[in-house]
Amino acid sequence: MASWPQTTSSFLYSSIFPWRLLFHFFLFCLLLFVSPSITLASFRPKALVLPVWKEPSSLQYLTQIWQRTPLVPVNLTVDLGGQFLWVNCAKDYVSSSYRPGTCRSSQCSLARALLCSNCSSSATPSPGCNNKTCTLFPDNTVIRAATFAELAQDVFSIQSTDGKNPGSVVSVPKFLFSCGATFILEGLANGVTGMAGLGRYPISLPSFFSAAFSFDRKFAICLSSATKSNGVIFFGDGPYIFPPNIDVSKNLIYTPLVLNPVSIDAIYYTGFPSTEYFIQVKSIKINGKTVPLNTSLLSFDNEGNGGTKISTVKPYMLMETSIYNAVVKAFLQEIANVSQVAAVAPLGACFNSNSIEKTRAGPAVPPIDLVLQSDLVYWRVFGANSMVHVSENVLCLGAVDGGSNPRTSIVIGGHQLEDNLLQFDLATSRLGFSSSLLFRQTTCSNFNFTSTASEG
Ligand SMILES: *[C@@H]1O[C@H](CO)[C@@H](O)[C@H](O)[C@H]1NC(C)=O
Ligand SMILES: *[C@@H]1O[C@H](CO)[C@@H](O)[C@H](O)[C@H]1NC(C)=O
Ligand SMILES: *[C@@H]1O[C@H](CO)[C@@H](O)[C@H](O)[C@H]1NC(C)=O
Ligand SMILES: *[C@@H]1O[C@H](CO)[C@@H](O)[C@H](O)[C@H]1NC(C)=O
Ligand SMILES: *[C@@H]1O[C@H](CO)[C@@H](O)[C@H](O)[C@H]1NC(C)=O
Ligand SMILES: *[C@@H]1O[C@H](CO)[C@@H](O)[C@H](O)[C@H]1NC(C)=O
Repeated sequence: MASWPQTTSSFLYSSIFPWRLLFHFFLFCLLLFVSPSITLASFRPKALVLPVWKEPSSLQYLTQIWQRTPLVPVNLTVDLGGQFLWVNCAKDYVSSSYRPGTCRSSQCSLARALLCSNCSSSATPSPGCNNKTCTLFPDNTVIRAATFAELAQDVFSIQSTDGKNPGSVVSVPKFLFSCGATFILEGLANGVTGMAGLGRYPISLPSFFSAAFSFDRKFAICLSSATKSNGVIFFGDGPYIFPPNIDVSKNLIYTPLVLNPVSIDAIYYTGFPSTEYFIQVKSIKINGKTVPLNTSLLSFDNEGNGGTKISTVKPYMLMETSIYNAVVKAFLQEIANVSQVAAVAPLGACFNSNSIEKTRAGPAVPPIDLVLQSDLVYWRVFGANSMVHVSENVLCLGAVDGGSNPRTSIVIGGHQLEDNLLQFDLATSRLGFSSSLLFRQTTCSNFNFTSTASEG
């Protein structure tokens, strides 16, 4: 047994290069899968919904969940590739139904919480501070700070959906998550007390809900570009219906999700793959012309460096320096007649917006195609997703130089995802994407959040 670290702040990660703690274990005896036991509500939902909105100053995408007894709303930053849900239990956590994960319990194996700890920061047990509990490493992926914390279990309540409106509220009595700590809330939006991880992990929200309610291991995100209206996260399969009665789960383009065999978390147990969602971008075209790139950066090396991932914690597309420079150069060539203006950090290529026409899918600029498994399959980024309005007359390319040695070569950020629906199929490891919904006369903020649940 390891004892609880005395100075958790020594696990604060804040430099550019990952500073990792590796725990070597023989895991084969622990890879035992157990379904979370739950008491079902009076009916079995086929899908669930959460609202998601963009917080304007941090550019983080937030959601609100309900948990504990009595139930309280909790605001969290959405982390698409995150391992699990974590909240700060050290402050204002009051619940009569809280239970810590007892060492070597089935909950610990399900959560892959392999280390056993005592809490030395207090003599009295409290949420987040109990003895003989199994340990997880909640990670603030915005600032890359991680800590040790106990596995926790409490009531979680969420709205079901028929794909069109939210319906009855269903309860998960033994939802598994982890506690955070006050110091790892740094960098998160005001009022946020943790993160909601949707990654490839047995207790991430999508995995947990599909096991708990026996529905398809699929979920979808649709981020709104407006800060005043909600986008939506669906757990379970479609239909995903947006007014005026468009089922966005139809006509998706599919590409395989690729597994990065090496975790890129701040602290992790070795031997498990990354929980993040990667796709295989083979080349980039701008205005139909291939941008010359060092394509070896688009695959993983032996340490899991390289590749292309999708992230909701990066506001803009991040690219390794040589890729960034090549993309900006090609974009400037294709947009030749538009006058460039001073850069607005962190965005490097900015233009006078008066000389750019407007279209249904945003400013009329050369489209950027992320070419996937074949030349015929690509993710086309139109002006609404490539360009950012930084001020009244200035539009910038929403791309940031990610440095010369980043862990991941291309990170597709939140701005690129807005008003596109992305469906993640965990069973077949496949991503379905809609391309810009603006061409289909709807947006992610159109989902009708008026509940159809009957009263009482
Ligand atoms: C943890 O606490 C228990 C009592 O709750 C005690 O029996 C055990 O020895 C402690 N382990 C360590 C490593 O301090
Ligand atoms: C954990 O166990 C130790 C004894 O090993 C005890 O001193 C301490 O108070 C216990 N802490 C909690 C939170 O129960
Ligand atoms: C959580 O978000 C909602 C919706 O934006 C907001 O009304 C509420 O004040 C937030 N809660 C906290 C504690 O900031
Ligand atoms: C391409 O990238 C790989 C991986 O970073 C590097 O080893 C190689 O030297 C690069 N090739 C060129 C021509 O820059
Ligand atoms: C730029 O302007 C020139 C002259 O007006 C025109 O011939 C050319 O086609 C324009 N190029 C683009 C990319 O719009
Ligand atoms: C939203 O759903 C409610 C309940 O079904 C319905 O009464 C209302 O007309 C819908 N609103 C829109 C804009 O479709």
